Amino acid sequence: MDDFFYITTPIYYVNDAPHIGNAYPTILADVLARFARLRGRPTFFLTGVDEHGQKVQNAALKLDLNPQAYVDDMALRWQDTWKRLNISYDDFIRTTQPRHVKVVQHVLQDLWHRGEIYRGEYEGWYCVADERFWTEKDLVDGRCPDCGRPVERIVEANYFFRMSAYQDWLMDYIHAHPDFIRPEWRRNEVLGFLRRPLEDLCISRPASRLSWGIPLPFDPAYVTYVWFDALLNYVTAAGYLQRAGFETVWPHAIHLIGKDILTTHSVYWTTILKAAGLPQPKCIFAHGWWVLEGTKISKSRGGAVKPLELAEIYGVDALRYFLLREMTLGQDAEFSRERLDSRYHIDLANNLGNLLQRLAQLVARRGGMLPHPGEDSAPEQQLKALYISLPQQVFDLVEDFAVNQALERIFDALTAVNQYLESTTPWKLPYPGEPAGVTRLDAILYTACEALRLGSLLLSPVMPEKAAQVWQRLGWQPPARLADGLAWGGLQPGVMISLGEPLFPRKEEVRE
Ligand code: MSP
Repeated sequence: MDDFFYITTPIYYVNDAPHIGNAYPTILADVLARFARLRGRPTFFLTGVDEHGQKVQNAALKLDLNPQAYVDDMALRWQDTWKRLNISYDDFIRTTQPRHVKVVQHVLQDLWHRGEIYRGEYEGWYCVADERFWTEKDLVDGRCPDCGRPVERIVEANYFFRMSAYQDWLMDYIHAHPDFIRPEWRRNEVLGFLRRPLEDLCISRPASRLSWGIPLPFDPAYVTYVWFDALLNYVTAAGYLQRAGFETVWPHAIHLIGKDILTTHSVYWTTILKAAGLPQPKCIFAHGWWVLEGTKISKSRGGAVKPLELAEIYGVDALRYFLLREMTLGQDAEFSRERLDSRYHIDLANNLGNLLQRLAQLVARRGGMLPHPGEDSAPEQQLKALYISLPQQVFDLVEDFAVNQALERIFDALTAVNQYLESTTPWKLPYPGEPAGVTRLDAILYTACEALRLGSLLLSPVMPEKAAQVWQRLGWQPPARLADGLAWGGLQPGVMISLGEPLFPRKEEVRE
């Protein structure tokens, strides 16, 4: 297993506040990073914001602000949202930071110097909203194929990157690395795209038309194309041109992206890296969209669903759980309040929440102290075996980006504890003072509490706050290295198990 874990989200345009479609990839990356940390892997989790370009310049103009003041304010808003959603990023990159401007200008200068960038004439259809040029055949009914807005015809001198020179190399690379672009059908989509001749990439905009960007070092009358700027964030944050550790971090990069930015990552980015003489990332994984009645949820279309409002109602952890449980990675998922509600009540309140409540009450009847495990009999051995194999099963699924299945597996294991209690009926067994039954009862209480501890530890990457509450109730102090808590037997007999409020109060109560 290559040990270092470097995970990235796309950097978000700051022309508006985050919506659920932006919260999702960030939560997903956070969960993958937390799983890696739980396994004891050195981890670097990067997110950030894309601050240059027309959209941002326009948004600032509308508010009568200069772009820098506008992005300074917006970057804080995004960081604040991530804080409230418990996003444990290690670095937050902003493309206006000097460290990034330096990398972009260095790469531009180097490619220019080596003839990988040349000056030419550009003519094409330009979509201001998406900041992309389209060819005639890309247009749908004469409009932008991505957002459906009108496009402008533009003819101007510009700078181009010789992307076409890398077409054969890229096809060979993708063929030779089956796990480079995932899921597999996205890889096939990229290979299909590469069957058509690849054009060179226009990488500049005249500063007279767009001033809010990084100037080309060899021609300050131009700024660089927003994607050329944005993609390089991934190497800037890994320490390119700044830190000695860059080589050990960078090739481990896993780029989580939405399917709408697959071409920019798997074609533009890979060829820019190749031309710059840099290694490729480890993997580009494209997820699907959250849709409302079939339409992508976005800032401008489909009615934005506000993550913080939902977190306010259901709690941050329940929102995180819902988003990860409901989406099969790679496919689209329909957002629905009813589904969120039912996940909250069935999985969280009934399965997990009630289990904790039930166990705390059973232990309270026995004096509140967690008993010694005593003798295992067949049902204990069975449950224990399930929980001993659970961490590896969960980690394998997560490693394969099947987070929803990993969660399903954990919740099945929690159901197994509830079933174990149903079948062993500890509430019918005699309590201390009636010595004959004590050992049996103790074995059941210990086994069930320990299973819940392990289950909650595996849930902690998704629900960090609720997991910590479970541990506190079970009297468990997580070790400094969380991975040390993954073995069976972490709970110390003799600790006090506390009664407390339900972990997931019914929603009617939440609304009060
Ligand atoms: N700034 C570029 C990315 C540059 S990365 C070098 C950008 N920004 S964005 O803010 O428009 O989108 C960021 C990400 O949010 C994309 O991966 C996109 O797929 C994702 N989502 C936006 N709406 C979404 C949904 N409704 N559902 C899931 N993710 C979607 O593109």
